[in-house]
Amino acid sequence: MQTLQVALGERSYPIYIGQGLLSEGSLLTRHIAGAQVVVITNDTVAPLYLDKVLAAVGERQLVTQIILPDGEEHKNLDQFAKIMDCVLREGHNRSTTFIALGGGVVGDITGFAAACYQRGVEFIQIPTTLLAQVDSSVGGKTAVNHALGKNMIGAFYQPAAVLIDIDTLQTLPDREFAAGLAEVIKYGLISDEPFYHWLQDALPQLLAREEAPLAEAIERSCATKARVVAADEREGGLRAILNLGHTFGHAIETHQGYGKWLHGEAVAAGMLLALRLSVQRGAVDGAAVQQLADLLQQAGLPVSPPPEMSFDDFMALMKRDKKVIDGRLRLVLLEALGRAQVVEDVSEQELRELLSKP
Ligand code: NAD
Ligand code: GLY
Repeated sequence: MQTLQVALGERSYPIYIGQGLLSEGSLLTRHIAGAQVVVITNDTVAPLYLDKVLAAVGERQLVTQIILPDGEEHKNLDQFAKIMDCVLREGHNRSTTFIALGGGVVGDITGFAAACYQRGVEFIQIPTTLLAQVDSSVGGKTAVNHALGKNMIGAFYQPAAVLIDIDTLQTLPDREFAAGLAEVIKYGLISDEPFYHWLQDALPQLLAREEAPLAEAIERSCATKARVVAADEREGGLRAILNLGHTFGHAIETHQGYGKWLHGEAVAAGMLLALRLSVQRGAVDGAAVQQLADLLQQAGLPVSPPPEMSFDDFMALMKRDKKVIDGRLRLVLLEALGRAQVVEDVSEQELRELLSKP
């Protein structure tokens, strides 16, 4: 097992990464101070892993399970209210601990519920998708969606620990696994060129879900995320680099309707656009575009946006991005392979050239 630390002063917390960790009760129980626990999961993950987590939690005064319906469409205020109704009815007090068992949807809504319940109770992340293990469970962004926008209601609220059992990835559907790989590749591109080249070699083993390379990929991804979050918890600046490809990607997701393209798939196509733009601006050698396209394609990810999406579609949707300040579009581009920067001076003409390419 490897342990990383997210260094945030008194709110610092460990990320445990390894095999069989769900069966090691002490890893979990050392972060549960009180006699009450709420485990929140969904109806896909519960039959797979809930029993193991309940066994690890052990006998306590009050243990409540909440099983949400699976799906991004349920990451909303209705389910949030159901969680609140349940924990209040059951009599959980401020010393309770919430545990999120599942992908990013469960992690985000549980974290937000923990941030709000009695003005904040402890919570632990047990992420079970690759995307959640390398991204959403670390860093304390919690939220639910609103009909008028994704993740629009939320809070920065850090967990007490993140427990990553890589064995859980063995049951993950291929498409979800590939979507998580997009975020892994992102870390190489934004801040770790040697890791990016390592991924080019290790991809077949990763796709075969071999434990050692998986653990290495997750560890190096989490190390970058932890470093960036420690430097800029509330996204005043540096943390925005974690959004490489996301401005284009969110536009694709919204245009297609949520659920048609997975987040990681849209980010993959978006990262390639960001790289093309970086090449267009002379920051990166043109050969990098084909290399990234090859890597994404081998991972089973899309390399271009939906053909029906026009320049105007992109512009209209990108202007709604959370990174837009006073109407100015801010994009994450590469200043070199393995080094990202936020730029504010991309002209409409440059974007037209980029997005009008076949
Ligand atoms: P998800 O939570 O919907 O999980 C994907 C699917 O895999 C679901 O059907 C889920 O039930 C299933 N699943 C989960 N673990 C499984 C397992 N081990 N075996 C079999 N099936 C399993 O999607 P996701 O990609 O994990 O997360 C996406 C969400 O994360 C979005 O809501 C996004 O906004 C959020 N997100 C948050 C952050 C953050 O920093 N908080 C970062 C990125 C994404
Ligand atoms: N997923 C982007 C962030 O955590 O900032």
